[in-house]
Amino acid sequence: MKIVHIIEEVRQSVQAAKKQGAKIGLVPTMGALHAGHGSLIEAAMAECDFVVVTIFVNPTQFGPGEDLDKYPRTLKEDAAYCEKLGADLIFAPSDKEMYPASQLVWVDVDKLTEGLCGAKRPGHFRGVTTVCAKLFNIVGADIAYFGQKDAQQVAVIRQMVQGLNMLLEIRICPIVREPDGLAVSSRNQYLSADERQRAVCLSQALTQCKEQIDAGQRDAAILTARMRTVIEHYGGRIDYVEIVDAEILQPLHAIEGRVLIAVAVFFGRTRLIDNILLDLK
Ligand code: PAF
Repeated sequence: MKIVHIIEEVRQSVQAAKKQGAKIGLVPTMGALHAGHGSLIEAAMAECDFVVVTIFVNPTQFGPGEDLDKYPRTLKEDAAYCEKLGADLIFAPSDKEMYPASQLVWVDVDKLTEGLCGAKRPGHFRGVTTVCAKLFNIVGADIAYFGQKDAQQVAVIRQMVQGLNMLLEIRICPIVREPDGLAVSSRNQYLSADERQRAVCLSQALTQCKEQIDAGQRDAAILTARMRTVIEHYGGRIDYVEIVDAEILQPLHAIEGRVLIAVAVFFGRTRLIDNILLDLK
């Protein structure tokens, strides 16, 4: 496995692989790799001949006061993990390589970025879509892999690919969970032992919500109120608890069709997100 830091080197490696007829898989990450990323790399390995993992803590998707400086940077461990899983290439550029001058070109996806995390993190998705567009152009992959945990990111990136007629396919992999149900995340490491125990309420609230829907409850206001009660009982500070249409991410009053139930909750200073996707057709 090679590690490269320069755009031109990625292009050369990918071109060489393409000349051999390889299907190229891309797993964009910000590093601090965990089992969630591992599942994306494994999915890419199963479907592609040459797998590129990008590791770049993208400054343009962090707002003022967010954890950009604190975000874990663990390239050595990440490289060992990618090598173990069989990835072919790591692209770990510097900020300067990705943003050599002040960025005057941005990719914006309207509407889908207004609610949920977008409402609380202005500019976040503009940073995500811009860096993903850059990475898609740099790598030239056939398929890019993302995790369902970042449900809004998934919807926004799909919309970008469709709206800008990008050639690559997007694959979404299921959320990876700890044995107690907590969704695996780089941010879990910031939780104290007590917060870590209490954080299990996110997946519990979501599971209970699904059970109530399975039992016939269709009123979104009743369902979200119950989720809020569960989370608050565990001392979580709610950022949002919402039930939205899975495609356009608009809030639903009555539950029907493809539904995304999404939560964002603070434990101390750590903000965790989780979701469940349901198809009620
Ligand atoms: O999901 C992430 O880790 C990031 O948002 C991504 C897609 C790598 C873009 O920086």
